[in-house]
Formats: sequence, C-alpha cells, structure tokens
Amino acid sequence: MIYLDYNATAPLREVAHAAMLNWLQQPSGNPSSIHRLGRNARQALDLARRQVAQLFAVHDSQVIFTSGGTEANHLALFTAMLQSQMQGHIVTTAVEHASLLAAAEGLQRRHELSVTRVLPERDGRITVEAVASALRPDTRLVSVMAANNETGVLHPIAAIARLCHERGILCHSDAVQLAGRLPVTLAQLGCDLLSVSAHKMGGCPGVGALLVGKGVAVEPLLAGGGQERGRRSGTENLPGIVAFGAVAHHLNEATITAESQRICLLQTQLEEAIRTNLPDCVVVGTETERLANTTLVVCDGLDGEALVMNLDLAGFAVSGGAACSSGKAGLSHVLSAMGMGESLARSAVRISLGWQTEPSHITALVAAFTKVVERLRPHHHRPMDK
Ligand SMILES: Cc1ncc(COP(=O)(O)O)c(C=O)c1O
Repeated sequence: MIYLDYNATAPLREVAHAAMLNWLQQPSGNPSSIHRLGRNARQALDLARRQVAQLFAVHDSQVIFTSGGTEANHLALFTAMLQSQMQGHIVTTAVEHASLLAAAEGLQRRHELSVTRVLPERDGRITVEAVASALRPDTRLVSVMAANNETGVLHPIAAIARLCHERGILCHSDAVQLAGRLPVTLAQLGCDLLSVSAHKMGGCPGVGALLVGKGVAVEPLLAGGGQERGRRSGTENLPGIVAFGAVAHHLNEATITAESQRICLLQTQLEEAIRTNLPDCVVVGTETERLANTTLVVCDGLDGEALVMNLDLAGFAVSGGAACSSGKAGLSHVLSAMGMGESLARSAVRISLGWQTEPSHITALVAAFTKVVERLRPHHHRPMDK
C-alpha cells in the first residue's frame, strides 16, 4: 500500500517509535507520584515539554498537553470566551476543521454569544479584510486555521493576529496541519492560542498541545488532579507525549525546511503529471499559497468516493474531499464555502504527501489515477459496450 493520506494522519516517525518503545520498556510511574519512578516520569514529561516548546520557540510553561487537536481547539474557544463570561462575539471561518466549528456551535447553543463564520475567497483563502469586516465592538475572539486540511491553503495568520491585537481581541489559530510542515514559531504567527496535534507530524494520535501566549490566562475544560499547572487535568499520556517530544526535537528549522523542499518537488511532479495526463482535472487552490504536501484534485462528473475506492483497490491510500469519521463521504463544507458546485465538489480527491513519500510513489499514483479516471469517466465505453 502506498500511503498518501498524511493530512488524515502521518505514519509514526522512527524517532517517535524508538522513544515510545524505549519508554514503554521501562518501569514507569505517574508523573505526579513522588517516588523514584514518579520522578523519572516527571523528568520524561518535562523533557518532552521542553522539546515541544523549543519547536515553537516558547517557554515550557506555555505548552499545555492535550489529547489532540480537537481538545486543543475546544480548550482555546472555551478559555477565551470564559474570560468574557461566555458573552460576546466570536469570528471564525466557514472552512475550519469540524472540531473548531463544533466547539463554536456548542458555545453558541449553550450561551448568549454569537458566531460569525467568514467565507473564503474562491481560491480558498481567508483575507484579513474579510476578518476585519466581520469584527464587532463585542468581538472577543478570532479563530482562523493556519492551513486548511482539505486544500492545504494557507491563511494570513500573522496579519490577522496583528489586526486582533490592535483591537484588543484574542486570536487563536488551529495550526494542526501547519505544525511540522513549515518552520513557524508562536511569535511569528503572533496569535495568543495555537492548537497543534502530534499525529499529523509523525507522532501518535491522541496527543496534542495548546500553546498559550505569555500572560494569557487559561481556564480548564477538564478539572480534577490539576495536571498541566491546573489547566488540563488527567494523568498525562506519557508514551504519546514522549513520542511527541522526540518528533518535536527531530523537527527543527533545518529539518522541516529540508523536508518541505523535498516534498514541494514531489508536489510539482504530481501536479504537472496530472495536468499532462488528465487535462480536465483541476488542482484546487493553485492561485494562492498552499502547503507543499497537499493536492486536492477535482474532476467534474466523477465520483470522488468511487475514485478513492478504486485507488484503494489499486494499492493507494488517499482521501475524498471530505473525510469524515463515519467513513461516509459527505459534501465538503470547505469546497461549498469556496463556492464550488455540488457535482465538482463531489469529485474531489485529496492526495497528501509526507516524510516517507518518494518520487516513485508519485509516478505509480499518477499511472493508477489516470487509469481509474479513464475507467470511471461517464462517457467511457468499455470494449463490450461497443
Ligand atoms: C485542521 C485540523 N484541526 C484539528 C484536527 C483534529 O486533530 P486531532 O485528530 O488531533 O484531534 C485535525 C485532524 O484532522 C485537523 O486537520
């Protein structure tokens, strides 16, 4: 199986695997226990926290480990709005990940606050102007994702954060798809709250972090044992956190830059081949800045789900435009928000590359993709139809 679905999850990196295995093979305690095994566990936790902090150039105390991007997004929205007694206005976008959209909707349903979902341009990009024009005097939080999981389109977070700070508004960004793919620090992005997830970077699923700006107070979503400085209770997922630390340590500015340059060449290879072999297929978001690993292809008249299933049979793991946990293909809210018609949006196939992708994988995928598209084309006549 050739795996080209890194935006869903990335294969575990060797450094993460080794660190996790090493940790699991040792006798271990709870980092909150004061005996030796507890202290060892605390040391491992502190080291992983420092490694994650270093990747984003923040202080250790600015890292709150969570169960992943979903929880980090919920914690960000919850803590930001609790600061204004669950009142006021949130500005987010119509292209966010479901976890962010659901967190915002949950707050809206249960409290007296309102939410504006800014629409992207046709190319998928959220502009600073669109965010600015959605702001109101009672806006308390702006939450815009750094990179879209379906299209890979990058949004101008630093400029949005500046705009927020001029108006005294908190700024959050879901950087789950950006983290580890481009070298960025919290200061460069400029936001107050940043969500990241280990498994998109080659760590384990079920671990992530919310990075908090200096002086930003955090109210816990989960209370209890007071872990994470009282900001997120629950015994820490140490095997996962140790693996996350190892990945963060491996991914410094130089390694991320080298990997993203290598992947960018593969993306060019892929998209040029698609343009040559399948001139009526279109790559989404080419007019704007995108992640180097993400290629979303639409082929009018074809069924994205059928394309994905046929590619699966041919030995390739890719996704439809809107992967959802039920496994059923829904219509992508991202493509709809971009103004794409239903039939085109239904044809979307997302190919996302990563640390294990090789040029030969791209060559093989393009050959299989071309064959499958030819076979599934509505006007295709099989020999026996003649
Ligand atoms: C943009 C974005 N945000 C959040 C998440 C959720 O992260 P996790 O799977 O760690 O909960 C994902 C995962 O698909 C994502 O792509």
